Amino acid sequence: ASFLVLHGPNLNLLGSREPGLYGAVTLEQINNRLLEQAQRDGHQLQVLQSNAEYQLIDRIHAARDEGIDFIIINPAAFTHTSVAIRDALLAVSIPFIEVHLSNVYRREAFRHHSYFSDIAEGVICGLGAEGYALALQAAVRRLEQN
Ligand code: DQA
Repeated sequence: ASFLVLHGPNLNLLGSREPGLYGAVTLEQINNRLLEQAQRDGHQLQVLQSNAEYQLIDRIHAARDEGIDFIIINPAAFTHTSVAIRDALLAVSIPFIEVHLSNVYRREAFRHHSYFSDIAEGVICGLGAEGYALALQAAVRRLEQN
């Protein structure tokens, strides 16, 4: 199967950005682990990090043409603001899992609302970088079951 992993704004700074909240693992390390995990099982996986909303939207549109089976997305701050990315995911109707490194429910009230959770297959938050690996594992299982 083919997977697309999307990382929203400021996640390029992982490793140095508020490590108490987000951990010491870099985005490159997260991506490399996911690539290994996917390749080991014979799957394809592509990754994009962007600080720009339209780039994430364009990538989601392209995913439909490419026949991407499943999306794993950490929309980062766009989680709490972006009707546009929500609409893009609805438009392509590709199933997705929402991931957050931090436990957003332990944080400021404005992080408690997500524009994605009610349309996601599932949500993983607060488990740090491990959340991405768990999301990929769950996505693979779901596709195998269907
Ligand atoms: C985040 C949580 C968001 O509230 C925040 O804006 C981020 C990262 C997380 O992974 O914990 O940038 O999505």
